[in-house]
Amino acid sequence: MIWLSHSCAQVKKLTNRGIFITLEGIDGTGKSTQMRLLIKHLRQRGYRVVETREPGGTRLGERVRGILLASRTGKLAPLAELALMYAARAQHLEEVVRPALARGALVVSDRFNDASLAYQGYGRQIGEATVGVLDRIICGTTQPDLTLLLDLDPGAALARAQGREVRRNSAHSRFESQGLKFHQRVRAGYLALARKQPRRVKVVSAGRSVAEVQAEIREIVDRFLNRAGKRGDRGWGFGIRKTE
Ligand code: TMP
Repeated sequence: MIWLSHSCAQVKKLTNRGIFITLEGIDGTGKSTQMRLLIKHLRQRGYRVVETREPGGTRLGERVRGILLASRTGKLAPLAELALMYAARAQHLEEVVRPALARGALVVSDRFNDASLAYQGYGRQIGEATVGVLDRIICGTTQPDLTLLLDLDPGAALARAQGREVRRNSAHSRFESQGLKFHQRVRAGYLALARKQPRRVKVVSAGRSVAEVQAEIREIVDRFLNRAGKRGDRGWGFGIRKTE
C-alpha cells in the first residue's frame, strides 16, 4: 500500500510538466499526413517535440504492432487484442511518454488510449467499463491534454484507407478489413467521447483538402499552446520551448 501510493505520487509528478497531444480517428482520415505536417509546424515554432505513435513507439511496442496489424494474425479474442494494446502502451508510457513529459517536452502521439476505447470498447463491443479499468491501472493520471479527432464518414474513410494499401501493394491491416459496421461503431465511440470531454477532444472534419484540415489543426493547437503558456503551469515557457 505504501509502495502503491508512493508510485502514484511519482507518476503524477512525472506527468505534470510537459504537454501531451494526441491525434485520433478511424482508418483513412489522413491522420498520419496531418500529424507529419503538425510536427513540422511545431518544430518551426521552436518547440521541442517528441513524435511517437501507438501501437508502437518502442521496440517492444513495434513488435506488438506487427502482430496486431498483420492480416495473418487472423482473429484475436477481443480481450487479447485489448490486452496487447495496453501491453504496448505500458511500455510506451514507461520508456517514452512519461520521461519526455517529465523533461518538459511536447509529446505528440499518433493515437493513444482513446483508440482503445473506440476500437476495442465500441468497435469490438468490449464496453467502456472494461477498457476503463485497464486504463486506470496502466495510464493512470497520464492522459492526453489535447486530442484532435479527425472525423470522416466511414464509407469515404475506408475507401481512402484501402486505396492507400493498394497503392503500397500491401494487404489491408486487420482493422482496415473489418468493414463498414465496425468502423461505424468506432466512429460512434470517438464522437461519444468528444461529447463527453469537449474541452479536451476537438473534432476536426477530415472531408476537406489536406491544407484546410491542417490549417484548422494548427489553429486549435496554437491556441491551446498559447493559453498553456500564459497560464505558466507545468514549467511551460521554460523547459518546453526551444532546444535543450
Ligand atoms: P495506424 O496507427 O496506422 O492508424 O493503425 C493502427 C491500427 O490499430 C488502427 O486500425 C487502429 C488500431 N488501434 C486499436 O484498435 N486500438 C488501439 O488502442 C490503438 C492505439 C490502435
